[in-house]
Amino acid sequence: MCGIVGFIGSNEATPIILDGLRRLEYRGYDSAGIATLNHGKVEIRRAAGKLVNLEMMLQERPLGGSCGIGHTRWATHGRPSEINAHPHCAGGIVVVHNGIIENYRFLKGMLTGKGHHFRSETDTEVIAHLIEHHFKETGSFEAAVRLALSELRGAYAVVVLCEKEPGHLIAAKSGSPLVVGHRGGEFYVASDIPAMLSRTREMIFLDDGEFVLFGNRDMKVSMLDGRKVRKESKTITWNPLLAEKGGYRHFMLKEIHEQPRAIADTLAGRIQEKGEVQLEELHLTDVELRRIEKLFIVACGTSWHAALIGKFFIEKLARVPVDVDIASEFRYRDPIVTGNTLTLLISQSGETADTLAALREAKGKKGKTVAVCNVVESSIARESDGVIYTHAGPEIGVASTKAFTTQIVALYMFAIRLGLARGTISSGQCRGMIHDLQALPEKVEKTLMQDGAIEEAARAYMGAKDFLFLGRGNQYPIALEGALKLKEISYIHAEGYPAGEMKHGPIALIDEQMPVVILAPRNETFEKVASNMEEVRARGGRVIAVTDHAGEELTGKADLILNLPAVPDDLMPVITAVPMQLLAYHVAALLGKDVDQPRNLAKSVTVE
Ligand code: AGP
Repeated sequence: MCGIVGFIGSNEATPIILDGLRRLEYRGYDSAGIATLNHGKVEIRRAAGKLVNLEMMLQERPLGGSCGIGHTRWATHGRPSEINAHPHCAGGIVVVHNGIIENYRFLKGMLTGKGHHFRSETDTEVIAHLIEHHFKETGSFEAAVRLALSELRGAYAVVVLCEKEPGHLIAAKSGSPLVVGHRGGEFYVASDIPAMLSRTREMIFLDDGEFVLFGNRDMKVSMLDGRKVRKESKTITWNPLLAEKGGYRHFMLKEIHEQPRAIADTLAGRIQEKGEVQLEELHLTDVELRRIEKLFIVACGTSWHAALIGKFFIEKLARVPVDVDIASEFRYRDPIVTGNTLTLLISQSGETADTLAALREAKGKKGKTVAVCNVVESSIARESDGVIYTHAGPEIGVASTKAFTTQIVALYMFAIRLGLARGTISSGQCRGMIHDLQALPEKVEKTLMQDGAIEEAARAYMGAKDFLFLGRGNQYPIALEGALKLKEISYIHAEGYPAGEMKHGPIALIDEQMPVVILAPRNETFEKVASNMEEVRARGGRVIAVTDHAGEELTGKADLILNLPAVPDDLMPVITAVPMQLLAYHVAALLGKDVDQPRNLAKSVTVE
């Protein structure tokens, strides 16, 4: 999704902005642009495609100045092209924008009637013209931006420059994320933390309706209507190196291999040997946890797969009924939420538009809300009543990996906490579970040792046109996740199915061309899954069996057996998720695909 970077200070703006945009590349984009103010003149460079095109243009026609704004665009209104790329300019007012302006057609019509001439197909250009219109009326840059923004409907994060007021930069947000960084009288503003992390760790997180006026070595935050706001600066502790590739060929591979550490960090300080789970930011007392009559878990994509696994944990350990919803469905289906309903919102980025809207839907109905988020101070984390942070560190690859396994771990801790509060599990049982959790990072480490074998499997099956992934119980969400990962980054069609459903349709697809990945750890349904395996083989299908110590029993029933470390069944999805990630990764890498930034996808889906 689009990325914003702005800078005002005493250094050259262009290299700082370019560096920030490069660090936001992971969000996905199709064009990029930069504008600076130099000796009272605005200059803009824009290019379709990857940043390298913009860099080449800047080499030929450099941009000077110590104040500027930059943008990577992910098309929503109008095709990806240079003309539609940001920044957009009208009468010396220059704007970069993330989000969607819902009333832009109306505003465009009104402004066209007043003689404004539009060059692009974007909603953003309307903002530049609207500010220009009010600037002509008021003669004040600040007043013009406030008036224009108050007329917008929809979501925005904007940063604005004005040729006639060169010492200033304005930023504001409503519905799309924006963070301010500061150091030594210089200011950075960006849509995401990694853009600035190499320059400063001191950051101010803006809330909806806030407006920042940057000047010469100072900044003022107020509400759009002018009311003053006091903001606290927070120190970000992420190591900037975590946002680099660290010797791996792709971020995704690095992030897959970071999972033992990410899981250990997510557990750290939260589980006690004596049989307790402490989730400090949950903000729910035992009494409140006991009152819960119903839970919803709401999310999108991979986070929704984690939600499906969370349902198993919560229903088993806390005996509360759980409905799992896709956020874009939940927000429009008028769900029955009461004061005793808890809605868990799962989101790596904490900025997914549908999940944010689902959160607001649940809050609007007076239900309690808890976020499971990876990005600290993200919108979903801040707007929820409580939060369980997954401490996976920044996830740069568009395909979610370490965020997923840490979400499962966070949900397991939550289910134990809920079960303890409600008395459905004892502290003795809890001690056993804590022991299992503590052993998990090492088991994931051992699972990663299968990397070579999985790469070989990828080489053998990379020519297939379709894949089927099958699993039962808590392995069904892993089948869905395996299929999603493969689709996302290798563009090979894949479907995930509950193994028991195979006979009800998908079996018709099976022939010698079809690799079928079957998740078959030794659990209650192992025998049934083994029968499904026979059925696939009987129809000529090529079986990749993913199993644990039951591996030997499957000899002769599968073309390839991946033997993984055994862990208690509840936690097995964390283990089986890893070969799904590695298989997708190696197939995509061998096919030469853009693993970290697959086509058409964005890391953080901040529009509906
Ligand atoms: C995962 O590989 C995806 N790229 C995608 O499905 C993602 O999980 C989804 O967009 C939700 O994102 P979130 O966790 O940041 O809310």
